[in-house]
Amino acid sequence: MDVSKLMFREGLMDGERILVTGGGTGLGREMAEGFLKLGAEVYICGRRQGKLDETAAELMAAHGGKVVAQACDIRDPDAIHAMVDAIWEDGGALTGVVNNAAGNFISRTEDLSVNAFNAIADIVFRGTFYVTLDVGKRLIAEKKKASFLSILTTWVWTGSAFVVPSAMSKTAINAMTQSLSTEWGRYGLRFNAIAPGLFPTKGMSSRLNPGEKDANPNNSMNPMGRAGEMHELANLAVFLMGPGAEYVNGQTIAIDGAGARANGGTFYPMLSGLGDEEWEQMRAMIKGTNAKDKSERST
Ligand code: HXC
Repeated sequence: MDVSKLMFREGLMDGERILVTGGGTGLGREMAEGFLKLGAEVYICGRRQGKLDETAAELMAAHGGKVVAQACDIRDPDAIHAMVDAIWEDGGALTGVVNNAAGNFISRTEDLSVNAFNAIADIVFRGTFYVTLDVGKRLIAEKKKASFLSILTTWVWTGSAFVVPSAMSKTAINAMTQSLSTEWGRYGLRFNAIAPGLFPTKGMSSRLNPGEKDANPNNSMNPMGRAGEMHELANLAVFLMGPGAEYVNGQTIAIDGAGARANGGTFYPMLSGLGDEEWEQMRAMIKGTNAKDKSERST
């Protein structure tokens, strides 16, 4: 990310302590960098300790400050509890959580097994709730204020063909955002969400657009003629996580160049014409990526 394009003053996030799930790569890493650059202490978790360590080292080398990397699979509530214990021991309560960790791949729904559904729902739907619950309980007990931000998609409003477990799970987290903004608002905990359009990342492109050289074939369909730039996402995340706009609560904000408004923002137009052979090829490519990532995990 070009940090010179961050629109906030240095030091804005001094004293903030933020956990970014899935913070070792992709959008999570970019938001973590934005928070760090503006003064926050950042905790990043994911399933690959090596990748997390590398990211933490790179971000601290670039900006100084403190990034703590801890492997944690958010599908495991005990692992979450242990990680959050360690965060509290390290420096006390968090002031923010970014629920960014996710899993997704394109598939015809009739090709999914129950395991395939759960591979996504266990991360996005259940895991996001487990993190929110574990951190939320502690903050309520300690009477501490905090901001929760979940990274969703515009499919929470429209649904999307060919990514049904993701669309279902993210829609549930949209409901969590709305529900807890009211129920836990009285504790000083606020809940917002961002629905990004296309911000190409390696993890996303290899599972949602496998085999394509152009990571973003839909640029021409977007009213702004381009994909999102990472500083744009980081600026919105800082606005929602930092001090100064605490009255924003219970909102899901799209950042997609109006792509969803213009063309639905779903996979239907792109994928509805594919045949058996093409789906088979994509499935093989996606599974290759999944297997490679898995080999880098310690658990
Ligand atoms: C059909 C598939 C499949 C495919 C996996 N499976 N890929 N089925 N088509 N392409 C099935 C497997 O056969 C298996 O079922 C089950 O899913 C679990 O597969 P695993 O590889 O063992 O799963 P796991 O290691 O838990 O991996 C989880 C994952 C993986 C979700 C499958 O992709 C992952 O960890 N991804 C994290 C990163 C990521 O996805 N980033 C992109 C996020 S993009 P069986 O029955 O054989 O046991 C996003 C929104 C983007 O979130 C929005 C853009 C606008």
